[in-house]
Amino acid sequence: MKILVTGGTGYIGSHTVVELIEAGNEPIIVDNLSNSNINVLDGIKGITGKAVPFYQVDVTDLDALRKVFCENNGINGIIHFAASKAVGESVKEPLKYYGNNLVGLMNILKCMKEFSVGSLVFSSSCTVYGQPDVLPVTENAPIKPALSPYGNTKQICEEIIRDTATSDNNIHAILLRYFNPIGAHPTALIGELPLGVPQNLIPYVTQTAAGIRECLTVFGDDYDTPDGSCIRDYINVTDLAKAHVVAVSRMENGKQKQNVEVFNIGTGKGTSVFEIVNSFEKVTGVKLNYKVGARREGDIEKVWADASFANNELGWKAEKSLDETIASAWNWQKSLKK
Ligand code: NAD
Ligand code: WQD
Repeated sequence: MKILVTGGTGYIGSHTVVELIEAGNEPIIVDNLSNSNINVLDGIKGITGKAVPFYQVDVTDLDALRKVFCENNGINGIIHFAASKAVGESVKEPLKYYGNNLVGLMNILKCMKEFSVGSLVFSSSCTVYGQPDVLPVTENAPIKPALSPYGNTKQICEEIIRDTATSDNNIHAILLRYFNPIGAHPTALIGELPLGVPQNLIPYVTQTAAGIRECLTVFGDDYDTPDGSCIRDYINVTDLAKAHVVAVSRMENGKQKQNVEVFNIGTGKGTSVFEIVNSFEKVTGVKLNYKVGARREGDIEKVWADASFANNELGWKAEKSLDETIASAWNWQKSLKK
């Protein structure tokens, strides 16, 4: 299938493009390179042998986006990754986030209608749940008031998609609510690009171990968890990428049971920050310099997925272990120094 992948040179997008190709699809990438680098295309080619068609286009530019659709007949589906995703930045620059994430999605939906493309996979996030009342969290858990403009854009985007699909039977969608994607492709030819000071745990861990950062701060050890540190559901980025391949295939083969379906994409296992630190030291043999600091504003205490709906309905399940995933993150970090 011909799949348009917006944000396809980004972290999750690039790993998904690889898995799409490995499954026999023909991805086309649209990306404005605002948070990625064009040499990711070389990494994708190094892994798959394929040169993926690439358009440096901003999805908020409707005319430019239309041109991509005009030049590519027969697009079977779209995977929409392109968005701004830094929670802290969204608090400082909400209009950038509402502008980019909402207008970008609406332009994709407009092009779907104009060019008769029916299938959309959307990058959502477990952030829509906030701090769930019940764990593990299922897709039916209440959507709580967003804790950041970023989280709010994901909630609003889900509603925009639902309303559009309700108004137009030709539009159908699968919303994938990712938990915490980590790691890199086993070849270490693609991974999470280190732009600026990492906000996320794993890149901060690997950069500390690589001597780029002085010391990792564990944001709080006084939470109501077994070891006092926060718990998350860390999912291997390649496992996550494979969920998108399954999702587009489900839609193309008419297997969807509703016009809009939602799936939690997580491992179903909660892991604490200290467990991540211990796993890193065990897997790499590198002693990590860390200290315990104050809680980070906005952090929720614990969240992990009930992924049984994706397991049973999509036939998708996370396969890679935490240790293997952390090793891939470290291999990627070491490859960057070369
Ligand atoms: P990323 O920043 O690595 O990738 C996003 C890509 O989109 C980048 O290549 C960027 O250049 C591109 N982009 C951004 N705005 C664009 C625009 N207006 N036009 C064209 N391209 C644009 O981020 P990621 O971690 O790969 O996340 C991909 C998607 O998954 C995002 O929608 C994000 O909100 C969502 N998500 C990410 C996480 C996570 O922890 N990484 C978790 C849940 C959901
Ligand atoms: C994980 C844990 C921190 C850094 C974020 C977004 C979410 C989604 C995924 C887009 C937390 C702790 C972290 C550090 C630490 N992104 N930590 N020291 O916050 O769960 O989710 O990324 O959709 O929307 O909120 O991920 O990696 O930032 O933090 O102790 O230097 O690691 O407190 O408990 P988070 P994270």
